[in-house]
Amino acid sequence: MPHMTDRAHPAIVPGPYRMLHGGDYNPEQWLHRPEVLAEDPVLMRKAGVNQASVGIFAWAAIEPERDRFEFAWLDGVMDRLHAQGVGVLLATPTAARPRWLAEAHPEVMQTRADGRRQAPGEWRHNPCWSSPVMRERSAVVIDRLAKRYAGHPALLGWHINNEYGGAADGARCHCDTCVAGFRRWLQQRYDGDLERLNRAWWTGFWSHQYQSWEQIRPGDATIEALNLNWHRYSSAQIAGFCALEIAAVRRHSAAPVTTNLHGGLDQYDIRALAGQLDFPSYDSYPEMHGSPGDRDQVHHHAWLGAATRGFGGGKPWLLMESCPSVPQYHRLPRMKRAGVHRLLSLSMVAEGSDGVCYFQWRAGRGGMEKLHGAVLMQDAPHDSRVFREVAVLGRDLAGLSAMAGAATPSPAAVVWDVESEWARNLNSGLSNLPRPRAAAVAWHRPLWEAGIGADVVDATADLAAYRLVVVPCVFLLRPGFAERLQAAANAGAQVLVDGLSAWVDHDFGCVGGGRPGPLRGALGLRAEEVDHLREDESVPVEDPAGWLGAGAAAVQWADRVHVADAEVLARLRDRFYDGTPLLTRKRLGAGAMWYLASGLRPETRAHLMHRLCTEAGIAPCLPGLPAGVIARERTQPDRRFITLMNPSDAPASVSLPTGWTDALTGAPLARVDLAGWDVRVLSGGWPS
Ligand code: GLA
Ligand code: ZN
Repeated sequence: MPHMTDRAHPAIVPGPYRMLHGGDYNPEQWLHRPEVLAEDPVLMRKAGVNQASVGIFAWAAIEPERDRFEFAWLDGVMDRLHAQGVGVLLATPTAARPRWLAEAHPEVMQTRADGRRQAPGEWRHNPCWSSPVMRERSAVVIDRLAKRYAGHPALLGWHINNEYGGAADGARCHCDTCVAGFRRWLQQRYDGDLERLNRAWWTGFWSHQYQSWEQIRPGDATIEALNLNWHRYSSAQIAGFCALEIAAVRRHSAAPVTTNLHGGLDQYDIRALAGQLDFPSYDSYPEMHGSPGDRDQVHHHAWLGAATRGFGGGKPWLLMESCPSVPQYHRLPRMKRAGVHRLLSLSMVAEGSDGVCYFQWRAGRGGMEKLHGAVLMQDAPHDSRVFREVAVLGRDLAGLSAMAGAATPSPAAVVWDVESEWARNLNSGLSNLPRPRAAAVAWHRPLWEAGIGADVVDATADLAAYRLVVVPCVFLLRPGFAERLQAAANAGAQVLVDGLSAWVDHDFGCVGGGRPGPLRGALGLRAEEVDHLREDESVPVEDPAGWLGAGAAAVQWADRVHVADAEVLARLRDRFYDGTPLLTRKRLGAGAMWYLASGLRPETRAHLMHRLCTEAGIAPCLPGLPAGVIARERTQPDRRFITLMNPSDAPASVSLPTGWTDALTGAPLARVDLAGWDVRVLSGGWPS
C-alpha cells in the first residue's frame, strides 16, 4: 500500500483522499416539506453522493431581517448530511441579495452600462462590487456563518459566492461609486500624472485629451485603452470582493476555499483571484445534440478544464456544476444518450477534477430553473434514468479514489489570455479573424486528439517547465511575456508564435517598432502587413520538408514577413506572395522560437503540431492510439492512470502494451473495446 504522502497532490478537501460526488443542494427552498429534507441525505447515500454545496442563494433564509439570524434549519441540514456521510462545501450566500437589503439600500444593486440601476430583487449575482453596504452586510453574514459552522464535522470547505460576474456584463458595475473608484485606481496606476495617462492612451486621437480625472468615464469606444482598463479595474473589484469574503471566513475557519468559474472564463481576470483560492472550480454545461458537434463540445469543455487546471497552477480542481440531464436553457434540450453523462464527467476527472458535482441535487417546484435537469426532479420518485446513471457514476468514482490528488502531466501549454480576449473584443477591426479563445481551442485540439497533455495558461504563467508552448492570437503583450517565452525557449522549449500575436502592448497601443514588437529579435524577423483572405480563398504553400503535410495552404489570413535571422521552413507561393516566409524557426538556447505567418486548416494545424511534438520530444501517453479515441493521463508517484474515451457513436478498440489493468475491476487488460461514448480507466505501473 502506498503511503498517503506518496500522492502527487494533497486532497482538495480535508479527510481521506476521495473523488467528490455531489452538487448544489438548496434545502432552503424545501423548508415547508420536512419529509423531503429528511429523505435527501438518505437518497444521496444511495446515489453515491458524498458532497453537497449548501446555502449558495440562501441569504434570505439565513438572515430574514437585518441582524436576525436563523440557523436552526441549517443546523438540521448539516447534521442530517453528516449522519449520512455527506460533506458540505458551505457557501457564502452573497450571490443573491435578500429583498430587505436591496429595498433598504438600492445601491447594492448593480448599475448597467446604460446607467439603469437594477431594481431590488432583479435577477441574482452582480451586486455593486464597491457598495460599502453590500460589503459590510456580506462580511456580517459570512462572519456569522463561518463562526457557527467552522467546527461542524460535515464541513469540507467554503464555496465563495457563485459564478462571480454572473450573466451578461455582470462583472462591471457602472454606478457613480464604482466610476469614482475607477478614477482613483487610475490615479494610482499613473502616479497621479494625467499627462502620462493621456500619452499612454493616445488621447490626442480625435481631441480626446482629458483635462481632469473627473472627465474619465467608461464607455467611450474610441479610446480602446480606456475600456481595457475599465475591465482591469472591474476585475480588481471582484478580486477585492472575493478577498473580503475569504477574510470573513478566515476569521473563524482554515478550511479550503474555492469559487466556481464559469462560461468562457472571460468575464473577469481569473488570475486576479489566483493566490486567494485553495483550488479552483468550474461549472461545465456542454450542449449535446447527437450530432458531430458533440465531439467539439467534449473537446471545448476539456479545454475549459485544462484552463481551470492551468489557472490553478496545474493542481487538481473541482467540477463544481454539471447537469446530469439537460439544462432547460439549452437551444435543444435533448436528453443525454447512454454513456454521455459518464463520459463528460470522467473527461473532467481526466483533466484533473477530483470529483463530479451537479447543479443540482433536487430541482425546485417553482422559479425559473424548475425545469433544469437535476438528480431528482422536484418531489417525483427517484426511480429514474438520471438517478440510476448518477448512482452508477457514484460507484465508479468511489472505485477511482486512488486517482484523487493525481497530477495531470502536461508537457505542452497553449496560451490563452483574458486581456487579449478583451483587447480583441474592444478593438475596432480584425472582425473576420479568429478571436484568442477560438484560436487557443483550435490549437489545443490536435494535442487532445493525440493523447498529449496540454495546460491552457495565461500570459502571466511561468512557462519554464513546458517543452512546447503555443502562442496563438495572443494579441496583447502583458509585461514580461516576451521574456518568459524566450526563457522557455532557452530552457529547451519549442515556442510557436503566430502572426495574430504581439500586436499591442499593455496600454493597447501598437507594439513599438512594428510587429511582433519585443519578439522581433528572438524570432529573427519582422512582420509588415496582414492580409485578410476571403472564405473561398487560399494561398499555396511551398513546404519542402513536409512540416505542414499534404495539401497545406494558407487560409483566413496571411502575414508579409521579412526574415533577418531565422530559418525559413515553408513559404507562400503565388503571384503576389512570391516566396514570403510562412513558417520560420530560430534556435534559442536549448530550444527554438517558431513563427507561423498564416491561418491553417485543421488538418494542417494537426500535422504541424505532431511535427512540433516530435521536435519537442513529446509522445502520446499511450502508443498506437487509434484515431478518434481520446486518452488522458493522470499520475501518482506509484502508478499511472489513463482514461480512454470514445466520444463518438462508432465503436473502437485499443490494443495495450503489457502492464495495464482496469482501474475499476483490477482485471488485466491487453485490449480495450469501447462502444460508442464508452469510457475505460486504466491503471498501470511506471515502466521500470
Ligand atoms: C449556473 C449557476 C447555477 C444554476 C446553473 C443552471 O451555473 O451557478 O446556480 O443557475 O447555472 O445551469
Ligand atoms: Zn457600483
